[in-house]
Amino acid sequence: MTEQLQVRAAVYRGDPDGRLAVEQLRLDPPAHGEVRIRVRAAGVCGSDRHVIDGEWQVPMPAVMGHEAAGVVEAIGQGVRDLAPGDHVIVAWHQACQRCAECTGGKPWACTRVRSNDSQLPDGTTRWHDADGAEAWPYLAVGAMSECIVVPDFAAIKVDDRVPFDVASLIGCSAGTGFGAVANNAAVQPGESAVVVGAGGVGMSIISALRLAGANPIIAVDVSGEKLAEARRAGATHGLLAGAGLAAGVAELTGGGANVAFEAIGRVQTMQELPDLIRPGGRAVFVGLPPEGQELRIDGLQLAYDGKTIIGSNYGGLVPARDFPRIADAYLAGELPLDGLISARATLDDVNDAFDAMRRGERTRTVILFDGDGDEE
Ligand SMILES: NC(=O)c1ccc[n+]([C@@H]2O[C@H](COP(=O)([O-])OP(=O)(O)OC[C@H]3O[C@@H](n4cnc5c(N)ncnc54)[C@H](O)[C@@H]3O)[C@@H](O)[C@H]2O)c1
Ligand SMILES: [Zn+2]
Ligand SMILES: [Zn+2]
Repeated sequence: MTEQLQVRAAVYRGDPDGRLAVEQLRLDPPAHGEVRIRVRAAGVCGSDRHVIDGEWQVPMPAVMGHEAAGVVEAIGQGVRDLAPGDHVIVAWHQACQRCAECTGGKPWACTRVRSNDSQLPDGTTRWHDADGAEAWPYLAVGAMSECIVVPDFAAIKVDDRVPFDVASLIGCSAGTGFGAVANNAAVQPGESAVVVGAGGVGMSIISALRLAGANPIIAVDVSGEKLAEARRAGATHGLLAGAGLAAGVAELTGGGANVAFEAIGRVQTMQELPDLIRPGGRAVFVGLPPEGQELRIDGLQLAYDGKTIIGSNYGGLVPARDFPRIADAYLAGELPLDGLISARATLDDVNDAFDAMRRGERTRTVILFDGDGDEE
């Protein structure tokens, strides 16, 4: 297994208008402990948009996308737990598996993670462009590519009955949303909750809140359409964002929610989040702002009110534990993840998908690949 594979992939090279080009890249075979996956579905996430809109710096050329599901096609030496034909969901936070945080059950807090820098655990990449220059998979996934190579521990086996489009979302938005509710906020039945921003991540939080038995569940967005969607996903109320928001939430919850989630990545909304919770409540930051932006929060009031601010990285997920839990809840009809998908597209539609996201349309676009080379 020494041959490079030619793959089509959506590549970002720093275009000021945030355009991607579909390029032909060369992908090395999986090295020791790695697997090659034939991607079947790749979700278009807000984090990709931060990158291509210049809000976060990444190594370039960048193979975009980090929300992937597909079929294992080839395995490197030393891979024991996966075989060709396995359906897998890819984890974008590829922790070292050995540090105190990893072995203590908090892989999301790993201090030695390299996937944030678009590198495989050994600091390298398997991608090269047509000129032979190295290309870097965003979050060490590069999901918007016909095939990808990832460490075996980042490819989590999933029940074949979960459709690829739904499975891809478990790799980021649905996984993050579920984890933010179940792990970070540990929401209890009957707690009141508010979710600001009802995109792919916010809507996933809403579905998970419903599963957790939260009540009421208040969705907030600038789009009335998104609020209608949110009601279908399990929100009990929808409020348009704006000046009267804190008063509206206080009225519906009798003085503020037990828990609030920010799922946009907007500094203004993040600093207003503690105003939506009652004394003793939790405010969870899931949305990620542009690099270098700071928040202003009234520290005295926060302390008086005994409020907690929680930062959520990948929903505090342990992928090998949590992806199957989420898939099981979906298969049992308890987590309506199909509803998150508002459009299915091809790789060549990738720029339209980001434009729709910038306009605040669509909960999630999923790029589908035809799966040539699958065993199916
Ligand atoms: N913490 C993590 O591990 C993690 C994981 C995945 C995504 N994210 C982040 O979550 C955020 C959301 O991602 P997404 O894919 O859902 O994006 P998205 O674009 O699909 O959703 C954003 C939503 O916010 C709404 N919105 C915009 N401005 C608003 C305002 N002023 N008030 C209320 N609503 C407003 C939009 O209409 C849209 O529905 C991004 O910052 C992304 O980077 C974080
Ligand atoms: Zn670690
Ligand atoms: Zn994401």
